[in-house]
Amino acid sequence: MARVLLIHGPNLNALGRRDPEHYGHLTLSDLVSSVDRWATAFGYELEAFQSNHEGALIDRLQDAVERVDGALVNFGALSHTSYALHDALLDFGKPAVEVHLSRISTREPWRRLSVVRPACIDAVEGRGVDGYREALKRLVRELRRLGS
Ligand code: DQA
Repeated sequence: MARVLLIHGPNLNALGRRDPEHYGHLTLSDLVSSVDRWATAFGYELEAFQSNHEGALIDRLQDAVERVDGALVNFGALSHTSYALHDALLDFGKPAVEVHLSRISTREPWRRLSVVRPACIDAVEGRGVDGYREALKRLVRELRRLGS
């Protein structure tokens, strides 16, 4: 069965107790369960990973490339700073869609730019957990176009 990697960066393990005004009340495990259900409905298996460490995220992208067909990525604050994750996504070489729970384009100026965005085929922001469904839909559309 084709597979999708769902990868989360720093502080997203604290969803549910962290800044609910921006990130809502769901925990990361609630979020992963929802994405898992949607992926199954689309005919994909989900592999989920979260780390607070940039290097661990890069290791996982390098490691998962043999197993997965594409990725949904929310690198948290590293999205705004990490050229290393940008390059890791380029090397990953499979379609990735960026997703953010909050609307980063209307928050603090430093949050408005995502340096990983150019390495992604698309991005969804500001739609909470539902944004992950939309991001998955866009990823699956691309995977089907590619025949995976
Ligand atoms: C976030 C937005 C980032 O700016 C922030 O640092 C996060 C969460 C989001 O999902 O809205 O950790 O990626």
